[in-house]
Amino acid sequence: MSKYKLICTNCQEEYMEETINFRCDSCNEPLELEEVREGSIKEGNPLRQGVLERYQDFFPYLEIDKDLSLQEGFTPLISSKALGEEYGIKLYFKNETTNPTWSFKDRGTITGIIRAMNLGYKKVGTVSTGNMATSVAAYGAKLGLETYILVKEGIAEEKVNPIAIYDPILIKVDGDYSCLYDESLAIGHENGIYFINSDAPYRVEGYKTMAFEICEQLDFQVPDYVIVPTSAGGDIRGIEKGFREFLNVGLIDKLPKMVAVQAAGCSPIYNAFKDNKMKMDRVENPNTIAHAIENPYPPSGHQVLRMLKRNGGLALAVSDDEILKAQRKLASQGLFVQPASATSLAAVEKLYRDGLLKEAESVVCILTGSGLKSTKTLEEHRLKSYGCKLDQLNEYIKKVGR
Ligand SMILES: Cc1ncc(COP(=O)(O)O)c(C=O)c1O
Ligand SMILES: [Zn+2]
Repeated sequence: MSKYKLICTNCQEEYMEETINFRCDSCNEPLELEEVREGSIKEGNPLRQGVLERYQDFFPYLEIDKDLSLQEGFTPLISSKALGEEYGIKLYFKNETTNPTWSFKDRGTITGIIRAMNLGYKKVGTVSTGNMATSVAAYGAKLGLETYILVKEGIAEEKVNPIAIYDPILIKVDGDYSCLYDESLAIGHENGIYFINSDAPYRVEGYKTMAFEICEQLDFQVPDYVIVPTSAGGDIRGIEKGFREFLNVGLIDKLPKMVAVQAAGCSPIYNAFKDNKMKMDRVENPNTIAHAIENPYPPSGHQVLRMLKRNGGLALAVSDDEILKAQRKLASQGLFVQPASATSLAAVEKLYRDGLLKEAESVVCILTGSGLKSTKTLEEHRLKSYGCKLDQLNEYIKKVGR
């Protein structure tokens, strides 16, 4: 197997592949796997391949074993003619809700877990309140690993059982949750637990497969924009790196502009971006219905700012009202996503209103996670249903029909 270095995203310090560090010893910024510069898509029938088999050349440092997979990835890219026409663009939705645990997280969990197993770990863990917790718990169960899930004390009850069903060691931690990311890495080193947190380098790698699939699904016509709901920053970093690697090997001839969208009630990356700053300030009182992207001081935030600058991309923030409106609009197209994911369509609306989208440009929104993950927020919509007696049903239907 080839040797690949990890490189600090900030000071470029290089680390040997054997390192178990996720962040730089000198500047504490995230490490990233060296870019792949040679490779191609594996021939074969995608219905019979896993994503990691098809794009194996882009994971030269992983010993890929088909039996570890829950068939993550290969999600649909849905073209929305109706909404596209409304904005005068070509609009696509990458529907990540069809993953094994209903969010994009599975793509990074599998690569993180394979890395842990390649290194000989028998214990894995994560710090999360939602999608990542479910994802790591599911893969940990399938692979027979002792799995530690650290959640925030006071986590919404509707979120606990969908994690607990996979039978991990689920711990509600009382204390300053923002310290838990660093704390978990230290605890992991001491107790032999491989923590696959939001921006762990081998998790970020897994997200590259979204970019690879988008390229194939669009016949290698790179979209003008890819819009990514952003919290820790792992997802957008992985997708952007995927496009870079396909450019390196000559499969595409340009990069899309990346757009990081955050909820206005917690937008540390956007706040820095709009003030042209390269350093974030911590958001003191985060408050949004998009809980899945409510991170007051994202661990990859500074790297997202550096990446957006290099890429010519943008950061945006959208209000809770705009998010709810976008959630309804997506449902009108048959797509039910959680509020965090609806930010991507809210961002299209904002770009359109601000006159930033040119006629016929192509835009891909990443729909990161399923609406069934947060049914409590549906109360905000005051959704309608009707009731009537059976013997009056025929009459009633004539009355309520639209
Ligand atoms: C539904 C959803 N969308 C987007 C994100 C943001 O991903 P990241 O934290 O990698 O930026 C998350 C993260 O938890 C999420 O759960
Ligand atoms: Zn560094």
